[in-house]
Amino acid sequence: MKERMLITGGNPLEGEVRVSGGKNTAVAVIPATLLCDEPCTIENLPDIADVYALVDILRALGAEVEYVPNLFMRVDPRPADGWQVSYRDSQRLRASYYLLGALLGRRCEAEVYLPGGCAIGARPIDQHLKGFAALGAEVEQLGGRIVAKAENGLIGSDVFFDVVTVGGTINVMLAAAKAQGTTIIYNAAKEPHIVDLANFLNSMGAKIKGAGTDVIRIRGVQYLHKATYAVIPDQIETGTLMIAAAATHGDVVIHGCIPTHMEALSAKLLEMGVRVSDSDDAIRVRSNGVHRGVNIKTQVYPGFPTDLQQPMSALLTTAKGTSIIQETIYESRLKHLTEISRMGAQVRIMDRTAIIEGVTDLYGAPITATDLRAGAALVVAGLMARGVTEIYEPHYIDRGYEHIEDKLRSLGAVISREKGE
Ligand code: EPZ
Repeated sequence: MKERMLITGGNPLEGEVRVSGGKNTAVAVIPATLLCDEPCTIENLPDIADVYALVDILRALGAEVEYVPNLFMRVDPRPADGWQVSYRDSQRLRASYYLLGALLGRRCEAEVYLPGGCAIGARPIDQHLKGFAALGAEVEQLGGRIVAKAENGLIGSDVFFDVVTVGGTINVMLAAAKAQGTTIIYNAAKEPHIVDLANFLNSMGAKIKGAGTDVIRIRGVQYLHKATYAVIPDQIETGTLMIAAAATHGDVVIHGCIPTHMEALSAKLLEMGVRVSDSDDAIRVRSNGVHRGVNIKTQVYPGFPTDLQQPMSALLTTAKGTSIIQETIYESRLKHLTEISRMGAQVRIMDRTAIIEGVTDLYGAPITATDLRAGAALVVAGLMARGVTEIYEPHYIDRGYEHIEDKLRSLGAVISREKGE
């Protein structure tokens, strides 16, 4: 028997829930500990598969790591003398590519295999490599791995990105934090986790200005001292819970989030007829079940995030009228809609655009997650549907959502997991 998640739909989510620390921040901040010259401590990490993969990678590189899930991770990078990440470890998560920037910054040499992660498009890393080369590294792609070395050290430089890239911006920040001189990144990404990584590095003594704008200035320093740092809450988990609350016609307060990070989603939910209100660190989402269809075009921050397009388009399958989804970031991020069609959704997909005609009800069916956020979309669909939905390959969901069944059950969802053999 294969592992599957079982959801009996139709129960409104009600109550209060706390959001976990950000996955996409955690996967940048943990490699960044390698740049520190003293032990440092990270708090508010989400208890998810990607974090465990990074613990193994840091240990394999020689760092001492003490990880107490939901409390802290203490990393002493001083004994780390490794500079190569194995094929198996590189494949365990997309963000293994941050080891390139972190190891280059630490010891001017790095070898990492091309990353794994979700199959949502081609996802090249040419801009990361261009950034390393601008800082003086020799970068080669050999036998499925990237080898980067800067024999004369990394020298600060101007880096112009051809496309706005979150990973590229983070990787160049990591490599440049201890380079000689100043690096200026133009056309930088502005996502909240870029600001969070800059704050973490600055808390250790780095000199980074402008994170959160499209020009970031990094004055290289020689030494980074110890720090204790708590990562920001997960923007995408917050959004997924907001969508799930609306989808089940529920009333949910999400605590510990940053409402300003959620503005693009909140605006769309309001446009649909969902009630959204917020305070300093909480958002309340209420729905009476009457939803209007809306159009979504994914964009870089502060636009509508691609990572929420999938759960949001699941919600739109039962909204009144037509909704048009344009996925501009990835070429292959609409596969969840084909699965949700098995549950009765009316969807036409043309290249990167989906046209959804809202139906009154979805019906439980066996469906398969194809990537992390597709999995989240299927959970939303299952919560809305009549009857029982079986979600296969739920391990994708574990890559980015901490204890998702427990959180949803605490709000009244009927959800469980059957382990595979
Ligand atoms: C990050 O991926 C996130 N991952 C993704 O979250 C998120 O979808 C994405 O940013 C966009 O917000 C992590 O933070 C670990 P990009 P990343 O570089 O860095 C093209 C999730 O579900 N591009 O901003 O890989 C690329 O093909 C994941 O949590 C190049 O052409 O995204 C894409 O079309 C999935 N060359 C676009 O830019 C490059 O060198 C944006 O990619 C780099 C990117």
